[in-house]
Amino acid sequence: MLFTRPKLYILFFIVAFGCHTGKHLTEYQITKDIVSDKAMVVTAHPFATQVGVDILKSGGNAIDAAIGVQFALQVCFPVAGNIGGGGFLMYRESNGKVHALDFREKAPAAASKDMYLDAKGNIIEDLSTFGHLAAGVPGSVDGMWEAYQKFSRLKDWKKLVKPSYEGAKNGILLTPREASGFNNNAEEFLKANGRPTVYGSQKWKAGDILKQTELAETLRLIMENGRDGFYKGKVADLIVAEMKKGKGIITHEDLENYHSKWRDPVLFSYRGYEIASMPPPSSGGIALLQLLKMTEKIEIQDNDWHKTPLTHYIIEAEKRVYADRSKHLGDADFYPVPIKTLTSDAYIKERMSDFNPTKASYFEDVEAGNAYESDQTTHFTIVDEEGNAVSLTTTLNGGYGSMVVVEGAGFLLNNEMDDFSSKPGTPNLYGLIGAEANKIEPGKRMLSSMTPTIISRDGRLKATVGTPGGSTIITSVFQTIVNIIDFKMNAYESVAAPRFHHQWRPEQVYYEDNCFTPETLKSLSIMGHSMERRGPIGRVEAIVVDKNGRLTGGADPRGEDDAKGY
Ligand code: DON
Repeated sequence: MLFTRPKLYILFFIVAFGCHTGKHLTEYQITKDIVSDKAMVVTAHPFATQVGVDILKSGGNAIDAAIGVQFALQVCFPVAGNIGGGGFLMYRESNGKVHALDFREKAPAAASKDMYLDAKGNIIEDLSTFGHLAAGVPGSVDGMWEAYQKFSRLKDWKKLVKPSYEGAKNGILLTPREASGFNNNAEEFLKANGRPTVYGSQKWKAGDILKQTELAETLRLIMENGRDGFYKGKVADLIVAEMKKGKGIITHEDLENYHSKWRDPVLFSYRGYEIASMPPPSSGGIALLQLLKMTEKIEIQDNDWHKTPLTHYIIEAEKRVYADRSKHLGDADFYPVPIKTLTSDAYIKERMSDFNPTKASYFEDVEAGNAYESDQTTHFTIVDEEGNAVSLTTTLNGGYGSMVVVEGAGFLLNNEMDDFSSKPGTPNLYGLIGAEANKIEPGKRMLSSMTPTIISRDGRLKATVGTPGGSTIITSVFQTIVNIIDFKMNAYESVAAPRFHHQWRPEQVYYEDNCFTPETLKSLSIMGHSMERRGPIGRVEAIVVDKNGRLTGGADPRGEDDAKGY
């Protein structure tokens, strides 16, 4: 292996004084690499991890804990945690049944294909990413309510939302990243809102207490009234009033009509393991299937990891898969996504038939897009004492979404509309290109790359994996699975290992520090690959069941991510 396992697995930081569920909290303990026997929670933030663990310990199942964590992330991780956004939840019951819940945002009824174009048909800069018009109709609260109705064991909604309500009301400790995130975006917050908001209200430092009074009131309404506490009444009124301030188009009808949807998961096998992942409107499950099935066609030896032949093969597979994504994938409720063909053995074999083992393929007319660097979605994963598992990826899209904080309600709205293809062939925030399949239509869900995934073997849970990272999500999840299955890494090793990424267009292969030896880099370049080093790719969270049946948790060292179990 090229990477070395850090010696320090447990980091302590911030000594301060806060309040969480009535207990005094004086510091966060962050655990990156952990083994436990019964249950585990891995999230992007120690506050959220603790909320999940507390719910599990009080008799909740993985779904109960996931609901608690989703609301907690709104409080402690507003850069991505969201009630103003959406996401996807994969749930595997201990009896092997797998469920996929789509609570992705939808285009408002007044949305239209050309809404981000000027009279000449050119993209109006920032309109789909910044401010009120960038927001899709949020799905998170409905998603949690739906999951609760169907699978909660505690059957006590208030108990699940309460830790977040209290965290918002009494205040939580700020981590170094959250503090600098607020400070670095202070001007943008002001520009988007035209008034000081809770996040931009002062210069923050790690250890400060963040109190969110307006958000607390919103969470109280959700706690008391469930789904209706958000989509009807005061919060809905505040969202619609906010829209009017900034030429936004979300209406009361859009909010009332929003419903999350149970979908058929993408199910397939990889080297004897059963994989379950997210179907459209995510491209994740289909793209992951294609990548793994292409990889299954070759033999992998222990010492092939990040060596030239395997890396070249993977890059070539990624090019083909992202080219398919850009043409064929969109919300299958609106567009006939050719799922059967894209996932068939014959098609996948044919796609790699022109693979040249010594030369990079060349795609003409490569658009200059940029793989935007951000890790502002979030993934978490939970396994409960019965072995039920949740893998959930959720997002506002960009960091802090549209930057619009709903006045009086205290939460950020997403900028998910940018995940549509605003203009065929023009790259979005993540350099992704789309076409007809992903054009804007009223009520449609924008194509996603989020890939929450659960792996089992012989009917028993093996692993749960997922990550943020925009377009890089699919390749990060793919590489983590190859790390686990082909290279037998444990949870922490599999998430800590450096990653690389290619998405067809632009032409570059992006890679992290310590990903390749200088020799490998040179030989890949000679083959014709355009290699470009960049910052962190993704923040993967994984739980892997080891050969003794114990749970091993890996929280990505690229962030403040935290794994706890018992
Ligand atoms: O759904 C998607 O694919 C994107 N909105 C995800 C954005 C993301 O992961 C940003 N964070 N890195």
